[in-house]
Amino acid sequence: MTIYDYPEYYEIAFSFRDIPREARFVDSCIKRFSDIPVTRIFEVGCGPAPHVSELARMGYQYTGLDNNRNMLDYAIYKNRDINPSPEFIEGDMVKFDLARKVDFAFVMLGSLYLNSLEEMNSHFDSLSRVLPSGGLYFLDWCIQFSDPLDHGAGNVVDSDRDGISVESRFDIKIVDPTSQMYEEIWTVNVNDNGRRRKFKMTEYNRAIFPQEFLLFVENRPDFEFVGWWKEWDLSKPIETASEVTRPIALIKRTRT
Ligand SMILES: C[S@@+](CC[C@H](N)C(=O)[O-])C[C@H]1O[C@@H](n2cnc3c(N)ncnc32)[C@H](O)[C@@H]1O
Repeated sequence: MTIYDYPEYYEIAFSFRDIPREARFVDSCIKRFSDIPVTRIFEVGCGPAPHVSELARMGYQYTGLDNNRNMLDYAIYKNRDINPSPEFIEGDMVKFDLARKVDFAFVMLGSLYLNSLEEMNSHFDSLSRVLPSGGLYFLDWCIQFSDPLDHGAGNVVDSDRDGISVESRFDIKIVDPTSQMYEEIWTVNVNDNGRRRKFKMTEYNRAIFPQEFLLFVENRPDFEFVGWWKEWDLSKPIETASEVTRPIALIKRTRT
């Protein structure tokens, strides 16, 4: 069992986010940069789908993909009153297909789990099949503008809700420098109204560095780079900033 099997605890651990602001930023990127009208939106690694209710209020119809059944069941239950119903699909982001095309795709909180160049190409091939030309792909915190180790080294985050307190500690180390693989050990201590639980989860992830990402996109005939920003603010493009947290990158499906 990992913290992803306990979506309520996961949500509390990440409750520091300003979800309405993030949803408004997504909407402003769509309005400003999409070449196609956007109704159907698609989230990769959706987890509990924290942005779905805000985005549905703006008129978007949502599809989320995740490989964790508990997360999906929780997202379905929590969002059961949204009309039209959001759609949740169990699948692997490395290779997937959707019954219907979507107009916009996004991935939040660095949830791009692609551990080799082959997996990256397979993911973008899958996305290319479901996103028509002119559609955007929005990536939150998926590109490493700083040393991944800076996010670790015992970084502790505390959050509380409804008598449940969740303390997360992240420890990160490089495990294979040539393939840019790092290991993130996420230790979570929960106090659920007096009941204490502990989760320890090890994730392996491959760092994607900015110049590598630009080259990757440039080498694909089906995508082009649009821009990158920080602090959920289109007036703050990332250029020479020394510190960048939660970088957002935007790419567009081209005509092929
Ligand atoms: C950090 S959570 C982010 C959830 C959500 N996007 C958010 O903003 O809170 C990462 C999610 O990615 C999912 N995930 C991990 N590997 C995956 C894969 N290969 N395919 C699909 N989903 C995956 C996990 O189950 C988890 O729900």
